[in-house]
Amino acid sequence: MYTLQSKWRYLIMFLGVQLVVMALLSREGYQKRVSYFFRIFRKTDSTLGHTIGGRNHTDVYANLSLLGPALNKEDMPYCPKQSPLIGGPIHVTFPSGLTLAEVEKKNPLVVRGGRYRPPNCEARHRTAIIIPHRNREHHLKFLLYYLHPFLQRQQLNYGIYVIHQAGNYTFNRAKLMNVGFREAMRDEDWDCLFFHDVDLIPEDDRNTYVCDTHPKHAAIAMDKFGYKLPYKMYFGGVSALTPVQYLKMNGFPNNYWGWGGEDDDIGVRVSLGGMLISRPSLKVGRYKMIKHRHDKGNEVNPKRFNMLAKTRHTWKEDGMNTVEYEIVSRDYQLLYTNITVNIGTEAALHPTKKKPAS
Ligand SMILES: *[C@@H]1O[C@H](CO)[C@@H](O)[C@H](O)[C@H]1NC(C)=O
Ligand SMILES: *[C@@H]1O[C@H](CO)[C@@H](O)[C@H](O)[C@H]1NC(C)=O
Ligand SMILES: *[C@@H]1O[C@H](CO)[C@@H](O)[C@H](O)[C@H]1NC(C)=O
Ligand SMILES: *[C@@H]1O[C@H](CO)[C@@H](O)[C@H](O)[C@H]1NC(C)=O
Repeated sequence: MYTLQSKWRYLIMFLGVQLVVMALLSREGYQKRVSYFFRIFRKTDSTLGHTIGGRNHTDVYANLSLLGPALNKEDMPYCPKQSPLIGGPIHVTFPSGLTLAEVEKKNPLVVRGGRYRPPNCEARHRTAIIIPHRNREHHLKFLLYYLHPFLQRQQLNYGIYVIHQAGNYTFNRAKLMNVGFREAMRDEDWDCLFFHDVDLIPEDDRNTYVCDTHPKHAAIAMDKFGYKLPYKMYFGGVSALTPVQYLKMNGFPNNYWGWGGEDDDIGVRVSLGGMLISRPSLKVGRYKMIKHRHDKGNEVNPKRFNMLAKTRHTWKEDGMNTVEYEIVSRDYQLLYTNITVNIGTEAALHPTKKKPAS
């Protein structure tokens, strides 16, 4: 009788352990539960309006219309070191039905190509935002809705570049960043470049989009990872480098086709270039990710671990010094500059070889 009971107990314990292990292995499931938890959390919070955890979340457009009158360039003082428009946590939601025309209307001071400078003071910083893109118009719309006023609150002179990969060949995020770097620097002598995923919305305007003395990893607290850094060397999502820092690590790798690995490669390059990773505080480097399915044409890169193991041998031969591409078009939209580029395929950039001179 007793032995039978304990047998059952073991069996039940065994099944329980299995379930826990299965749940842990299924990260998807884990994420779903986490977001379910947050949803419950948010529901109870909605009674408090925009206050979450005792902090008041401001509308990202609040007070921007209070900007003083435009001044002549000659009379313009430098903007204060700390922008008076900074308000802290920002309220982020994704209303259905938002249109680009509405975003344009809410940003009357943004001019052709997605450029802006403060109307009443001389900006202390010039920042270019580089967004690798394909088939994510829906996310781009939300990012533009939040990013424009976010950068205006920080009194930056800025420009937004969408680097659009032409064709249907596998996506290559890091190579598009190299293209963005070169093409943005052709336009203007930017002193900082922000390499920005299209689906990440900053949630605190104290997360200033200016560069540090070391390459900066800005997206350290994403909702998807429970607002924590997933691992110490993580360098994904949003990062910022000065042109000097970017060239010191020979830019980003060109040979990561498909999803994954390239951000870790970039993190390794930072240290191979003799630099450290700088980060904002967890309180400020917060981002909300727009949920989506895995993209077609951006399948997981099965070679990523092998390639990563070789970075220390390959970084000098592959990067900014070897990037090859063909610009397809350069469109100056009101809210961004669309640089459409053919970055080739894994095998070769130029399928049509030039005839040898005879
Ligand atoms: C948040 O705003 C409400 C009113 O809008 C105010 O009563 C409350 O004191 C504010 N909380 C904080 C932490 O500032
Ligand atoms: C907006 O301006 C008002 C008055 O100048 C100020 O009290 C408030 O803190 C500002 N809010 C933000 C988010 O900057
Ligand atoms: C890309 O794929 C779409 C649909 O899958 C097709 O209509 C289009 O012609 C393709 N473009 C190229 C450049 O192959
Ligand atoms: C950028 O331009 C290309 C070529 O005209 C176009 O196919 C693409 O839809 C544009 N992308 C965005 C986000 O505007």
